[in-house]
Amino acid sequence: MPAIVLVGAQWGDEGKGKATDLMGTDVDYVVKFNGGNNAGHTVVIEGEDGTREKYALHLLPSGILTPTVTPVIGNGVVVDLEVLFQELDGLEARGVDTSKLVVSANAHVIAPYNRTLDKVTERFLGKRKIGTTGRGIGPTYADKMNRVGIRVQDLFDEGILRQKVEAALGFKNQVLVKIYNTRAVDVDLVVEELLGYAERLRPMVADSALVLEEALNAGQNVLLEAGQATLLDVDHGTYPFVTSSSATAGGACTGSGIPPTRVSRVIAILKAYTTRVGEGPFPTELFDDDGETLRKTGAEYGTTTGRPRRCGWMDTVIGRYATRVNGVTDFVITKLDVLTGFEKVPVCVAYEVDGVRHDEMPVSQSDFHHAKPVYEMLDGWWEDISGCREFDELPAAAQAYVLRVEELIGARVSAIGVGPGRHEIIQRHPLLDA
Ligand code: IMP
Repeated sequence: MPAIVLVGAQWGDEGKGKATDLMGTDVDYVVKFNGGNNAGHTVVIEGEDGTREKYALHLLPSGILTPTVTPVIGNGVVVDLEVLFQELDGLEARGVDTSKLVVSANAHVIAPYNRTLDKVTERFLGKRKIGTTGRGIGPTYADKMNRVGIRVQDLFDEGILRQKVEAALGFKNQVLVKIYNTRAVDVDLVVEELLGYAERLRPMVADSALVLEEALNAGQNVLLEAGQATLLDVDHGTYPFVTSSSATAGGACTGSGIPPTRVSRVIAILKAYTTRVGEGPFPTELFDDDGETLRKTGAEYGTTTGRPRRCGWMDTVIGRYATRVNGVTDFVITKLDVLTGFEKVPVCVAYEVDGVRHDEMPVSQSDFHHAKPVYEMLDGWWEDISGCREFDELPAAAQAYVLRVEELIGARVSAIGVGPGRHEIIQRHPLLDA
């Protein structure tokens, strides 16, 4: 059976849960392949009696809530073990069985000093800060690339762990003390903290790439779910205002060990408007009442940091770019209902930079910073669309909006979210092959 990749098309928080809900129990494995507890997804589970329970997950793959799914933390992830066990404890206290979780032996561990470094580096950058989530993500990926990282498997060999922590801190303590004017970190304390997690972690740890290969060979469906999104990807995003991992479809292969030849579909989630948290360019950002309306109606406040999200209109230059760099086969448009009630709904179709029109993402970051959106004004609608389950039931203007966006982004829109509940969705094409 094939593997399916799920990515965000914009700057994150597009609502990937809508797609995973649609695939439901047809998925056997859900793999997180990048990022760490910088992500945040709120999953709403509806009980048979109609009650709704909210779960806020930061590190665990969303599949952890589905009893038939095996959730996997892939080698491309950076794991904060304290957060991992907090989330597991929280779920277990609510009766969720978490015993199937698989953690890659090659995933990197967020050491406590990397959380410290993330925060002090941001303070040091001042006006030029990235606006990170402060979870230690960037410094941990930097250690990985510098070959001074701590991997999950290191926790099972105290001698190796100590050597690695010493090697990392030899340099970092100099930086912490001499540049950032903070206290040095004690090697023993770090080793002790990390060893304290080892025994509970041990039964979860495996060669996750092999586990996934065997699952695919056995005909099971494997979903590779990205954290963050295309424009936060360290290579293809709005660098340096990005996260430090590969959040595009290519990252799904390196971050899980599944080869590209086994991926049959790439599903991208595109919010019906655009949001961003943290710093960095955002051509369609709104600073007026419309922006405030989108923020309020769409409840656009960060799940991880609680920060209000920056809001703006749909940008199809970004959508086209996402199609191209991810090889998107299917889009899921989310939160179309949030656009209800606007007289006109602007859609950005191109940019203008110093009088020159750009139909594609400008090559130079300075041009992107100066890009002014070229809008096409589409008609709005007023009807409540949350009860629509077929495309034809949508008001004509809402249908026209989806069809125009589909044309501009260059890949089919297979599903449309019309409300927060898991059944509030219109499906046009199946997301999994029969
Ligand atoms: P970091 O991932 O904590 O290093 O933060 C880098 C940038 O990515 C910041 O602008 C964050 O706000 C952004 N970011 C990280 N994770 C998410 C996410 O899950 N959704 C949206 N933005 C994110």
